[in-house]
Amino acid sequence: MIISASTDYREAARRKLPPFLFHYIDGGAYAEHTLRRNVGDLADIALRQRVLRNMSDLSVNTELWGEKLDIPVVLAPVGLTGMFARRGEVQAARAATRKGVPFTLSTVSVCPIEEVAPAIERPIWFQLYVLRDRGFMKNALERAQAAGVKTLVFTVDMPVPGARYRDAHSGMSGPHAEFRRLLQAVTHPAWAWDVGVNGRPHDLGNVSRYLGKATGLKDYIGWLGANFDPSISWQDLEWIRDFWKGPIVIKGILDPADARDAVGFGADGIIVSNHGGRQLDGVLSSVRALPAIAEAVGGDLKILVDGGVRTGLDVVRLIALGADAVLIGRAFVYALAAAGEAGVVNLLELFEKELRVAMTLTGVKSIAELDRSSLAIDPELTKAIAAEVKQVP
Ligand code: FNR
Repeated sequence: MIISASTDYREAARRKLPPFLFHYIDGGAYAEHTLRRNVGDLADIALRQRVLRNMSDLSVNTELWGEKLDIPVVLAPVGLTGMFARRGEVQAARAATRKGVPFTLSTVSVCPIEEVAPAIERPIWFQLYVLRDRGFMKNALERAQAAGVKTLVFTVDMPVPGARYRDAHSGMSGPHAEFRRLLQAVTHPAWAWDVGVNGRPHDLGNVSRYLGKATGLKDYIGWLGANFDPSISWQDLEWIRDFWKGPIVIKGILDPADARDAVGFGADGIIVSNHGGRQLDGVLSSVRALPAIAEAVGGDLKILVDGGVRTGLDVVRLIALGADAVLIGRAFVYALAAAGEAGVVNLLELFEKELRVAMTLTGVKSIAELDRSSLAIDPELTKAIAAEVKQVP
């Protein structure tokens, strides 16, 4: 059954990718409760239908820090994207640019900044992890600046990597992982030819340029694992605030108190996120965390959100609850794995159509006008949300 473009692309990605890669994308931390909540809680929020309001001049564009977005969607940073399609980061960045939205390059991308940034006319966004090796962080920031990056996404919810048990089952990690991955690659010839043979080099491009030596992907993952920094605190970010000239967006905020600290730090934006349910399983879904955060800091900085967004309707739901824009992770990765750049363009076109239909039938003419009055919040289902939201229509 086709429920949305994302579910359709997900099935296509499942068929095409070796299982260790499909499950690396698809899975979450521990028992995956938060991963399921992200999707389920969003889908449960009812929209409020309105009719006969002359919706002929509808606009779905928006703006963030002076950058125009054709729809209020950003491609989220996703590590190893170049393993899901040939030079995947370049293909996804091209698709985003064709659809007038930003692409965020992960620290742990396969293609380095210097390969992706010149491939498109629009400046890419760059995501940085907090790592023990501050030399790497500084080097990455300098290279991002030289490549014309303006918006820096700083991911703070990975002081330690979350345990993803699916990866051990699938062969991404665990016993005989290398042999299992090889076996899976040869039994998925379309991927093996596209990425395995023609998508090389397979390394973490940003890291390999810094370390200056060609080693395998496995070695870089080891380097990364040893480099997460549990001692990190807000003070450690101050030099970045001083160094970086453009907007700084803190990714991984799930609590109003942390959102207030981000304002105090001088961030230009936050991303309400639980890392797509890949870090601390059991935390709130992003959509459940959002209203209280919007109450606490709305108007002080831009609020972006991700987690569980699979359709344009989800974008409407999150903006109605206080977000300025929404990031998508798995939704675009499934499309990229299944059909490359064309798949991501198609997915974004479908998001735009869904967004237009939802706004037409909720009687809202612009993104700025979207608020809680567009939601027909079911009183039973949303008692808990109501406690976090001051006025529920
Ligand atoms: C991610 N995410 C992520 N975030 C980040 O800041 N840096 C990264 O390198 C990665 N890598 C990564 C890999 C994969 C395979 C996934 C699925 C996710 C998290 C990502 O940016 C985003 O927060 C979530 O994907 C949002 O949830 P959905 O849209 O996937 O449900």
